[in-house]
Amino acid sequence: MNYKLIDLKIHGDNRGKLISLEGNRDIPFEIKRVYWIFDTLPDLDRGFHAHKNMEQIIVAMDGACQFVLDDGKKRETVWLNRPDKGLYIGKNMWREMKHFSYGCKLMVLASDYYDEKEYIRNYQEFLDEVKNDSSSL
Ligand code: TYD
Repeated sequence: MNYKLIDLKIHGDNRGKLISLEGNRDIPFEIKRVYWIFDTLPDLDRGFHAHKNMEQIIVAMDGACQFVLDDGKKRETVWLNRPDKGLYIGKNMWREMKHFSYGCKLMVLASDYYDEKEYIRNYQEFLDEVKNDSSSL
């Protein structure tokens, strides 16, 4: 499975806590884009796509949500519910985001600019893509 839950290094003292992420140092890619998701609703799921090449780190800055991660062979679920955990998702991973808490805020660091052509939004197409990918190894 091409994903990993990462403990982010906290610089903490009695004034509060601070986390800093530097591209190619704290995370395994150069950051080309940052976006965030907010004003979500618990019964409205998001995601349902994979990326052919893009890598991402996702942090729940506030609130919680569940990620379903699927590499075409198995499915696992991960809860993001702390601002000191980063979810790394590599290429060719189908993801679904569910059970958003009210007020959940997700920040996403991405390895590339937004490019709709790089998305796979059809699950069957995703399965075909990963099957072809592993047979070309
Ligand atoms: P979408 O991929 O549906 O979001 P999610 O993966 O959270 O379900 O994106 C919603 C809309 O925002 C869609 O019209 C594409 C647009 N968008 C951008 O313009 N730039 C971006 O960086 C992202 C992530 C999405």
